[in-house]
Amino acid sequence: MRLPAQAFYNQRNTISEDSGTLRALADTVAWPNDLTLAQWCSWYAATLEFKPDLIIELGRGMGNSTTLFTLAAHRMPGAKVFSFCLSEQWDRLTRPKVRSLTGEEWFAPLSTYLIDICQVDFTHLITPAKRVLLLWDAHGYVVADRVLSHIMPLLAQKEHVVFCHDVTDNRLYADGPRGYMGKTIWRGMESYYASPETVGRTNIFWLNTVVDQFIPILDFCWRNRIELRSTDWEMKEDFAKHPQYYSELQQAVPEDCFSMVNHWAYFTLNEAPGPLTFPASVLKAGEN
Ligand SMILES: C[S@@+](CC[C@H](N)C(=O)[O-])C[C@H]1O[C@@H](n2cnc3c(N)ncnc32)[C@H](O)[C@@H]1O
Repeated sequence: MRLPAQAFYNQRNTISEDSGTLRALADTVAWPNDLTLAQWCSWYAATLEFKPDLIIELGRGMGNSTTLFTLAAHRMPGAKVFSFCLSEQWDRLTRPKVRSLTGEEWFAPLSTYLIDICQVDFTHLITPAKRVLLLWDAHGYVVADRVLSHIMPLLAQKEHVVFCHDVTDNRLYADGPRGYMGKTIWRGMESYYASPETVGRTNIFWLNTVVDQFIPILDFCWRNRIELRSTDWEMKEDFAKHPQYYSELQQAVPEDCFSMVNHWAYFTLNEAPGPLTFPASVLKAGEN
């Protein structure tokens, strides 16, 4: 089985054991719009399965992923979480609420920075690490420029995996509606955010998304001969092949902590067969 299904299966007892804490923390963050409890558990399982010593979070927002990665770090002695975001919601709203549940010491594995990701030099963070999990949950072309031109060359020298949020796999909805329903074409995420009732989502092969970065991500994966892997599709295929594992998982994990559909994709340059290629930075060229 591949990472998503293998993680849920292998970590089923840990998820079950930690389900009360996961549920209490998710309720405290109280922002399921960005991440449901089942999605928390999906990233929690995949993180514990991958066993990074360094987790880099791009995009903290209200802090769903920040909180679950910190909880995961407590199960992986020595693991550190570094979180970068422009939003002060975590410091102002979420951290004080989580603190009242966990106490201050609980935050020890976590360092948060209120900063533009494009201003960060990741070299000193990534160079000493052995195994890196990068959560890419800050949207748009500018962050994509920084990730693909600066962060990925550093990650390429390590065992690593990149989780990309906010994508739905069209293959799960083969008979779903394909009509425009009176909406316009998608013309970038800003067009969608400005008017979601009149602008459609975009469909690129199996990907259904509204966020810009999936276009440069697909381009990057194609150039480097690696796959952008659909978590939801891999889970569907792997559990169809291993129904026994699926039923063991279902028996072990509370219903609200598991879903077959979690809306994320992942990739790694570790599976690239040949020489790697990276884009030059738009920011360096002073075009942004
Ligand atoms: C979808 S939210 C993150 C949600 C979070 N991962 C969670 O699980 O709750 C995306 C965040 O990325 C931040 N962001 C977007 N562009 C950024 C940039 N250039 N530098 C830093 N943060 C950025 C936004 O401010 C926003 O808070």
